[in-house]
Amino acid sequence: MKKHLNKISKTSALLDKRGWAEANAGNISLRIGNISNNYYKKYQLGELKNFQKTFTHLSNQVIIVTGAGTRMRDVKRKPERYLFILKINEAGNMFQQIISNKTNKNLKPTSELISHLYIHNMLLANKREERSIVHTHPANLIALSHIQKFCNQDAINNLLWSIQPETVVLANEGIAFIPYQLTGSEKLAIETTKALEKHRVALWEKHGCIAIGKSPEKAFDLIDVLEKSAFIFFIYKNAGYNVEGINDIKQKKMRRHFKILL
Ligand code: 13P
Ligand code: ZN
Repeated sequence: MKKHLNKISKTSALLDKRGWAEANAGNISLRIGNISNNYYKKYQLGELKNFQKTFTHLSNQVIIVTGAGTRMRDVKRKPERYLFILKINEAGNMFQQIISNKTNKNLKPTSELISHLYIHNMLLANKREERSIVHTHPANLIALSHIQKFCNQDAINNLLWSIQPETVVLANEGIAFIPYQLTGSEKLAIETTKALEKHRVALWEKHGCIAIGKSPEKAFDLIDVLEKSAFIFFIYKNAGYNVEGINDIKQKKMRRHFKILL
């Protein structure tokens, strides 16, 4: 278990270092799968709680999530204290906290749990390789989502891809754009899950980003490369320039070279 907790705390440290984690901003989850019952002998299980929803593909899954109201800088210092380990029941509609002697029993799972559950359920249903979800508040991407002309998928991707080759190569299918929805709502979860069937990263209008990856660090990398493009955009705008960027022909050539199809 420790190695899984450490994977999350390594990424929470990166979010803090990037300055994307003001107060309790952001949350992370890592699905560690269906662990044998013997495993729980050294742990206690908390009371059974209801999801008010059935996630059939999450039957018996164990998922680690950051606690509600938790600071990323605290997760980095004391992962056992600020991470909540959920064991989901056979039916996929209830969960229990897995408790060790270092666990904070008053901790609740992130307020965005509904999005994490919907997305993990979809990933399992579609037999996808991603097991991690990172939600964070990168300032430049959020700023872009306040500008009406970038509040659509084509416009924002054409801008971000034109800024640096890494964005075309690493974030090749682009970022999904999710129009504003209430934080922590089921509507936000449903829209995001739909978008992540074809993308690995989505931008929540006027809020932040959410990405999936094989590891939390891989999900972080995707956001990092897109945020860097947005950062460069604002640097040249602030310097008073309108830059042409990498044009469509050059982008297409790059896609052919790296065998990336849209
Ligand atoms: P939590 O502290 O509940 O995870 O909320 C942080 C956040 O970013 C909500 O969108
Ligand atoms: Zn948020």
